[in-house]
Amino acid sequence: MDKFSIEGPCRIKGKVKISGSKNSSLPILAATLLFDQPVTIRNLPKVKDIDTMLSLLKSLGSKIILSKDKRVAKIHNKNKIKTFASYSLVKTMRGSILVLGPLIAKYHKSKISLPGGCLIGARPINYHLDALKKLGMNYVLKDGYILAKSKGKLNGNVLRFPKISVGATENSIIAACLAKGTTILKNCAVEPEIKDLTNFLNLAGAKITWSGRKCKIIGVESLNKTEYSVMPDRIEAGTFCVAATVARGNLEILDFDAKIIKTELNLLKKFGAKIKIKNKKIFIKGPENIKPIKNIKTKEYPGVSTDMQSQLMIIMCLANGKGSIIENIFENRFMHVAELRRLGAKISINRNEAVIEGNTKFIGAELMSSDLRASVSLVLAAMVSKGRSTINRIYHLDRGYESIENKLKKIGVRIRRQKNG
Ligand code: EPZ
Repeated sequence: MDKFSIEGPCRIKGKVKISGSKNSSLPILAATLLFDQPVTIRNLPKVKDIDTMLSLLKSLGSKIILSKDKRVAKIHNKNKIKTFASYSLVKTMRGSILVLGPLIAKYHKSKISLPGGCLIGARPINYHLDALKKLGMNYVLKDGYILAKSKGKLNGNVLRFPKISVGATENSIIAACLAKGTTILKNCAVEPEIKDLTNFLNLAGAKITWSGRKCKIIGVESLNKTEYSVMPDRIEAGTFCVAATVARGNLEILDFDAKIIKTELNLLKKFGAKIKIKNKKIFIKGPENIKPIKNIKTKEYPGVSTDMQSQLMIIMCLANGKGSIIENIFENRFMHVAELRRLGAKISINRNEAVIEGNTKFIGAELMSSDLRASVSLVLAAMVSKGRSTINRIYHLDRGYESIENKLKKIGVRIRRQKNG
């Protein structure tokens, strides 16, 4: 298993190009199962989760031609599509559950493994199943699989999500595209990645409109041949802005629409970062001294993203005062705290609140990655630690950050990947 070796502390300076969004690519790729016509998806990030989704689509029978640089996928469902998604594939990437909606909508049946939980939480899919049931899907759970089918086409319906869920919103919108009649989804998640998905589907002839957290989908017969370029990854962009904030950096984020991380950028300004936004670029200068922020709460978009929580915690460790973070989305998303303590952080946890002492002098150490975003927070902390840090099991990072070590090296971080078996 590969590891990173990082020599700190370092200052960062330069320009970063943000890759395509992992969390937009996954639902868009899943939605290609709705198509009979060829569909081309561009600007895919070169990360493990996309490889997994493409392998899953291929296992279902999609014909996929991938460009040499792996950023463009030409997909054509001309062979007979199978509707079985195995545990071996689904267990490595929970986002695989997003193929359930399109398979039921288009092929009216699917046997798909229950995704199971992960380190950050149990990750149930009850809202997905309840919503699809309201659209006409029947299912039983057997031997860890969902055996689902519908009597022909799904039927449009009006439904309200009991809690805001990104994945359940995506699965339901995709399924409703080919349903008979109109579907109204209430209390939807409205993350930018979901709007990217609906922009893609509308470009292909779907009839989806939004009003706040309400989404209306008028079912259509079929979707047309389409080409679409995935939006840039807002969590990657936010992560690099945090890097500039902790490492007294001077960074330019290229080709990125800052308004989709406005909430997080406002926090960075409160920490003392100087931020200028000009023609789709973010210019960010990290402060010499980081001001404390009393408390930060993660919330569904447009609130502070849970996927930025562990990164923001690094800033709070370095701030000259105490602060707390409340994690409102997942039940176990403080896996990075134990590792940060090994670097010298003083953090106490009480249920879903972490209280961070601040004024930490990080000293390099041997560290263990746990989940995607926790791992990147260890990289940020190691960058500003005194001495050498080793971060093990960086396959977690490779799932969602495209060649992060090369991007960091280019802006001055002394980081090296050690290939281990
Ligand atoms: C998506 O996960 C993202 N993943 C996550 O990013 C992100 O953290 C999350 O949304 C929240 O923004 C992808 O887009 C592939 P949810 P998802 O359904 O869809 C509970 C990353 O690091 N819930 O909005 O699984 C759930 O347990 C990943 O890139 C149910 O109880 O998130 C959680 O507590 C991590 N029942 C809350 O809702 C359900 O049926 C929000 O989950 C579904 C969800």
